[in-house]
Amino acid sequence: MDDYKFNTLSIHGGDEGKNPENALNYPLFLTSTFTFNDLEHAEKTFSFECKDYVYTRGNNPTTRLLEKRLACLEGGADCVVFSSGMAAISSALLSLLKPGDELIAHQVLYGSSYKVIKEVLPRYGIKTSFIDLTQIDKLKTGITDKTTLIYFETPVNPNLEIIDIKEVSQLCSSHNIKVVVDNTFATPFYQNPLKLGADVVIHSATKYLNGHGDVLAGAVIARDQEYIHELKFNYLTELGGVLSPFNSWLVLRGLKTLGLRMREHEKNASKIAKYLKNHPGINRVYYPGLQDFKGYEIAKKQMSGFGAIISFEIMGGYQDIKRAVESLNLIKLAVSLGDAETLIEYPFGMTHRDYSGQELARMGLNKNMVRLSVGLENYEDIIADLDQALSK
Ligand SMILES: Cc1ncc(COP(=O)(O)O)c(C=O)c1O
Repeated sequence: MDDYKFNTLSIHGGDEGKNPENALNYPLFLTSTFTFNDLEHAEKTFSFECKDYVYTRGNNPTTRLLEKRLACLEGGADCVVFSSGMAAISSALLSLLKPGDELIAHQVLYGSSYKVIKEVLPRYGIKTSFIDLTQIDKLKTGITDKTTLIYFETPVNPNLEIIDIKEVSQLCSSHNIKVVVDNTFATPFYQNPLKLGADVVIHSATKYLNGHGDVLAGAVIARDQEYIHELKFNYLTELGGVLSPFNSWLVLRGLKTLGLRMREHEKNASKIAKYLKNHPGINRVYYPGLQDFKGYEIAKKQMSGFGAIISFEIMGGYQDIKRAVESLNLIKLAVSLGDAETLIEYPFGMTHRDYSGQELARMGLNKNMVRLSVGLENYEDIIADLDQALSK
């Protein structure tokens, strides 16, 4: 299986021979519990001597296939899926940290991840700090003998900064520090953090992996099989953030076209980024595929494509942003990303509103930024909609 290329793996990865009843699609096992032949069978299943299923909070065949497929796509030993990206992130962080440990995160993160790290983890005796991880020297000076975990997204939500996964991982492995990367924006089609030295990869599978805007899901993939076993049976099963089998089945369906969708998303995004760059009403465009973008060279090195999220700053003030986003017809004002529909949002008033004005100023972030998740419509229609809205 490992020899197959990406699109083949997104359709067949993790397959174990024939499906039940010779079905082409792996069936949806919509059952909460599984029956045992006798007590001995039950006890052997509980003690992992027998690989049968017990209860869908612990394991389910449809969900298990999704886990194996995602592990194949990311090149990991195994995977655990969760009921949302945030369930995956919070469970992974809790499983990897203990009181007294120190976590360093990149200074810009998806808003809810930022809140968990800033406000929730410290309640459990974990010290957290935020550093600009695009500058490796800052990380070198930030690491202490208690640092056990580094956490970041690349590309970063919402300003698309690029963090050098290999450079951070090399530094961390010499200090015995684990590296966790949220790979939601790039997807395994464009970037494999484990192959660049990271220990754990996280996804909001709500986004591109599912791709159809009808599911919330999350995933944790790791190089270490033992860690995945611990995460599954001590954190997923016991904390209970389980993905429903139906949603697992939908994500499996979405994955079949991941490579095709990503290519089309990116083709559209590169046209739109160029259009925005030349627009007189736009101050600045954030897209890793633009040659003058700060992270371009690292993105080119560690990604096989630049993805399809573009942020940009509209000239003027809040009223100008309001007028522009409210004048759009085809493009919808909504959080989330990675769907067939093009979506726009205003991060520092919506998803990232927990960042204070002072924090934004310190990090050089402009509140006027809007984030566009470029969909699969014809790019000419997306550009025409942006054009009429920006002209107002
Ligand atoms: C980069 C990133 N990570 C994690 C999440 C959280 O995922 P979910 O909404 O599936 O919980 C999001 C959501 O937007 C995200 O953009």
